[in-house]
Amino acid sequence: MIIGIPKEIKDNEYRVAVVPGAVKELAKHNTIYIEKGAGLGSGITDQEYIDAGAKVLDSSKEVWEKSEFIYKVKEPLEEEYQYLREGLIVYTYFHLAGNKALAEELVKRKVISIAYETLQLDNKLPLLRPMSEIAGRMAVQEGARFLTIPEGGRGILLQGVPGVRPANVVIVGAGTVGTAATRIAIGMGARVTVLDVNIDALTAITNIFPDKVETLYSNPLNIEEAVEHADLVISTVLIPGRRTPQLIKENYVKKMKKGSVIVDVAIDQGGSTDLTKDHPTTHSDPTFVAHDVIHYAVANIPGAVATTSTYALSNATTKYARAIGDMGLKQACEKFPEIISAINTYDGYISFEPVSEDLDMEYKQANIK
Ligand SMILES: NC(=O)c1ccc[n+]([C@@H]2O[C@H](COP(=O)([O-])OP(=O)(O)OC[C@H]3O[C@@H](n4cnc5c(N)ncnc54)[C@H](O)[C@@H]3O)[C@@H](O)[C@H]2O)c1
Repeated sequence: MIIGIPKEIKDNEYRVAVVPGAVKELAKHNTIYIEKGAGLGSGITDQEYIDAGAKVLDSSKEVWEKSEFIYKVKEPLEEEYQYLREGLIVYTYFHLAGNKALAEELVKRKVISIAYETLQLDNKLPLLRPMSEIAGRMAVQEGARFLTIPEGGRGILLQGVPGVRPANVVIVGAGTVGTAATRIAIGMGARVTVLDVNIDALTAITNIFPDKVETLYSNPLNIEEAVEHADLVISTVLIPGRRTPQLIKENYVKKMKKGSVIVDVAIDQGGSTDLTKDHPTTHSDPTFVAHDVIHYAVANIPGAVATTSTYALSNATTKYARAIGDMGLKQACEKFPEIISAINTYDGYISFEPVSEDLDMEYKQANIK
């Protein structure tokens, strides 16, 4: 297959889909085109890709137009819609439940969209996991930064000092992001409360951090009370493939202390607070203030630590890219049936049920040819 790797164009997005080691594997049976400079943000030169067997093209237009299979990091942006065409395979993060305009383009143009975030294997999301590990760690770092006075925060140090209480960190969701965030927040000495509806997830987190974390069943009353007393709230809720539910209501935010911080990691699926919903921010303008509370809702948090993120993402995604490139989509799905759970649009229809329900768009099971 002809596999194309365009340079990412989202604000402050420095990741690239593949590292040279992966290109070397892919290039054994495929032609690999990569856009000039695509790896520079992650510290990878064009020459390293050439040495691994890729051909460097000058423009994204050439990469998109010459390739049968586009291998990316973030969803296609409006400037890239012009390249979407019938039968083109696009393998990337899409988060369609929060992006109807893109879903409509993909359906209209009959693109085969293979979404990292919905690929399920043994009830896990292995292609979301590496970025969630990073976003969870970064969420605490960023939260700590915005709690400082120069950044507009209430001037609280997460760990406190002898004789002064540490900060209260409330984490909603005890999955991959939630567990990573808990690890860092505890490591920094904060008091941590974690809420989830999944008792197994709460048990797991208690077992990992015995006596260091307080857990609470997630219901509106418990969320409201925890949020009211929090200095830093980190929301990490996910119902796979679905639009994020808005669990943190505006009236809870109004009760928070001035200069407190909310980091809405779940913004990429639509946002989990009334105020961040449909209000993503960017690395160049990461926060907004509402009811005196700082809201951080960057949808590509791992992009800020691109060198780490690129290697982690490439390690996770290459296995399926190789399968699709080497044997074609049909055979790849036969060998790795979990790929089917990642196909979100196919032949002019939404082919992933939760997305079709959330967007109120017609569903049709992919009949892979
Ligand atoms: N902003 C970014 O840059 C970025 C980066 C990585 C991941 N993410 C997003 O972070 C979110 C979390 O990812 P993850 O890998 O941790 O998912 P996960 O599936 O591992 O964890 C999600 C958790 O939310 C819990 N949950 C569901 N409903 C809940 C409720 N009502 N109350 C409390 N908890 C509830 C689930 O039980 C689960 O434990 C996803 O939306 C993902 O796309 C964002």
